[in-house]
Amino acid sequence: MNVSGPGPTWESFEELAAAASTCTKCPLAETRTQVVFGVGDPHADLVFVGEGPGAEEDRQGIPFVGRAGQLLTKLIEGIGLRRDGVYICNVVKCRPPGNRDPLPAEISACRPYLEAQLDFLAPRVLVTLGNFATRLLLDTKEGITKLRGREFPFRGHSVLIPTLHPAAVLRNGGNALAQARSDFVLVKRALALHAT
Ligand code: URA
Repeated sequence: MNVSGPGPTWESFEELAAAASTCTKCPLAETRTQVVFGVGDPHADLVFVGEGPGAEEDRQGIPFVGRAGQLLTKLIEGIGLRRDGVYICNVVKCRPPGNRDPLPAEISACRPYLEAQLDFLAPRVLVTLGNFATRLLLDTKEGITKLRGREFPFRGHSVLIPTLHPAAVLRNGGNALAQARSDFVLVKRALALHAT
């Protein structure tokens, strides 16, 4: 497939990942250990988009491998799927220092990689984890607490389901965990409805 939009063109997913791996388009390139492009099955029906790598992700080069990642893995397994059967990536591919929020300029610089990644992946169901991914991909300023647990059409071939970021679930516990679990039940239902 040849993905061409308003931005750069990449011939393959591998070429895209290789281009991202040496990116210096924003200052995060100076502080990262490595680019964290994404992990999982590029042919998966289900794709997750988080915010950006944390310390452990930056060290290992794999998204969602820290505490929040362990919860994400549990939520995935809780609906009868395996982590290696889905695809997981982030809005920004490099760690913001000290785990601060990514800046608008960093999100814009990284956006062509995410957009092209989603072009290649073309998942049936896309789950945005937290405010950053949800606001970017739904092009809204609305907050995650309003948007979570609902289905939005995405690019004609997908449904987008926003849910709470697993790090927020870890911070808030109780009700947040119940909400995340119920969002994942919706994800499971959407996968069954939109199966290939
Ligand atoms: N939080 C994220 O948003 N992404 C990761 O990869 C890890 C933690």
